Amino acid sequence: MSFPAIRMRRMRRDAFSRALMREHTLLPSDLIMVAFVIEGEGQREAVPSMPGVDRLSVDELLKLAGECVRLGIPALALFPSPGSAVKSEDAAEAWNPDNLMHRATRALKAKYPELGLIGDVALDPYTTHGQDGLIDDAGYVMNEPTVEALIRMSLAQAAAGMDFVAPSDMMDGRIGSIRDALEQAGHIHTRILAYSAKYASAFYGPFRDAVGSAASLGKGNKHTYQMDVGNSDEALREVELDLLEGADAVMVKPGLPYLDVLRRVKDAFGAPTFVYQVSGEYAMLKAAAQNGWLDEKAVVLEALTAFKRAGADAILTYYAIDAARWLRGE
Ligand code: PBG
Repeated sequence: MSFPAIRMRRMRRDAFSRALMREHTLLPSDLIMVAFVIEGEGQREAVPSMPGVDRLSVDELLKLAGECVRLGIPALALFPSPGSAVKSEDAAEAWNPDNLMHRATRALKAKYPELGLIGDVALDPYTTHGQDGLIDDAGYVMNEPTVEALIRMSLAQAAAGMDFVAPSDMMDGRIGSIRDALEQAGHIHTRILAYSAKYASAFYGPFRDAVGSAASLGKGNKHTYQMDVGNSDEALREVELDLLEGADAVMVKPGLPYLDVLRRVKDAFGAPTFVYQVSGEYAMLKAAAQNGWLDEKAVVLEALTAFKRAGADAILTYYAIDAARWLRGE
């Protein structure tokens, strides 16, 4: 039996039947806002390659957090832009109990305890060379010494009250090592969000401007630890290892160009699977919108819904607040 008995357009004819057959619906509770933190008070610094995104001092960050709570956005992912004065070869500022990230965490937790906080665990904001780890004389990022540093960083974040530590470095074995250290220190409730399938992507450019690692990195790249763009079987192996090592949630990053990977990961493991709509994706949509070439609200909500359709349980996005407002009809 087919046409004319089967007419696919019948269910599409009216809004009520479109609503009834809709498989995936985007909600504010699917979104994780992303914010960059700077020193100072009353400071908002524009990121030129990300119009609409400001680096915020902690007092300004509190306002953004309040807006997330009001809108029903469950969590906020924090990235520090600490300035060159604290950068070093060994990235020791990363585990300084009073560093910018930890002060921000304590302030946020004091005011908005119900808002989940996700802390980036990688050394790039703190290294003079802009790599995510510690390098040897040849410039190669050394695995085990880096993992040791990431453990110290994770313990410091957990002590400050971070709900999720989120290793974004792609070192081997870091999830299990961090899990062990957290357990031994009594941080049994601190969750790990593993950047499991993180690609060596050119879509991170604006982010590196925002946190100030672009200048340090110079012509360097991250190809010896981030994944090759051509692979997706490898992503499944990365995810499997991170889950075996104790990851509570896994992530695919970037987002839109990697929906195939997202779907494979969700199908293969059924684990909490997050996706990161990265800075370059934001910049593309924003630039086109500012030129009047795309309808911003429509394309953003379309892209975010596509993540849910592809299997995402939660979406990290610089558009979280805008999208939540749009979804609520504000
Ligand atoms: C660094 C890190 C990066 C992003 C998140 N954590 C950039 C990189 O790996 O160079 C990118 C996020 C974005 O582009 O929005 N560990």
